[in-house]
Amino acid sequence: MTSTENEKGDSPMSLNDEVRAPQRASDQQDYHATSSEQITAEVLAAISSTTGTRAGEILSAVIRHAHDLAREVRLQPDELLAAAEFLRRCGDISDAARHEYILLSDVLGLTMVVDTEAAGVADGALETSALGPFYRAGAPWEPNGANISRGTDDGEPAKIHGRVLDTDGTPISDAVLDVWSTNARGLYENIDPTQPDYNLRGRFRTDANGSYDLWTVKPVSYPIPDDGPVGELLHLTGRHNMRPAHFHVIASAPGYQTIVTELFTDDDPYLDSDVVFGVKPSLVVHYNRIEGPARLAAAGRTEPYWDLRYDFILTPGQTTTVEFSTGRHQNH
Ligand code: BEZ
Ligand code: FE
Repeated sequence: MTSTENEKGDSPMSLNDEVRAPQRASDQQDYHATSSEQITAEVLAAISSTTGTRAGEILSAVIRHAHDLAREVRLQPDELLAAAEFLRRCGDISDAARHEYILLSDVLGLTMVVDTEAAGVADGALETSALGPFYRAGAPWEPNGANISRGTDDGEPAKIHGRVLDTDGTPISDAVLDVWSTNARGLYENIDPTQPDYNLRGRFRTDANGSYDLWTVKPVSYPIPDDGPVGELLHLTGRHNMRPAHFHVIASAPGYQTIVTELFTDDDPYLDSDVVFGVKPSLVVHYNRIEGPARLAAAGRTEPYWDLRYDFILTPGQTTTVEFSTGRHQNH
């Protein structure tokens, strides 16, 4: 022990020492605490090599908005971990026929925001709606007048017919309508082994007058899967998991914007609370009940059916292809 140390090995305190803080603590006090905004700036600087690219534009916006969100709600570390765990479970439950992340985007309304912004259709023209996870590419080509209800007990027969028109009213010939819907039990054929392959799916071409004409079944409302993390989110927020009755269509023609959309049945109880926010007023349609011997005889039918007349109005622009297609469950 030197003469300047006490028994514990500490230097003896002097008055000056009391007034002046120890050397290291004094240095620390000179630092400002790092703010979360500085961290945001540091992260944005780290991706600056992507400036001017689309990836850079998207990623920097994700970083800015995510950091701002964390600040706005004062996100806690355990809450961030809970969110990570939620996303992990979304991955765990997903497979080739189940896309929990798409479903998550759908129930949060993000899919509809993206589709609506991307389409930018003219007023009065056909609007976009949700593609959903059940679109299956390669549906059989059918002649006008064909019936795509190929199963037994598919539902109540419905005739859907009309024209495909330009925004100026000119009929569009050779336009393609790729259509699909569920049977009366609310099931798409690709997840229902009891239905024939491609049941209630088909592709139709308009004739020289821009007319189309097909037979299917009247759509019914049905639930989206709620046995995974997205279902938990719905329950947590007091929401049901129903989609109002709808008929899916991808309408396309050379020189026109391809429109992915749905026609919603006007008498459906879930019309105002679609779990994926797909309903737009211009897409709500009315099916007329055709019954009585005279009307049935005029239509060449013996059984009552539903009749929907609908004109699809396409906006001039680029055709696009739908990049997503589900498969049919195997082992059926
Ligand atoms: C559908 O209509 O097929 C659908 C859309 C979004 C989520 C689930 C199903
Ligand atoms: Fe659907």
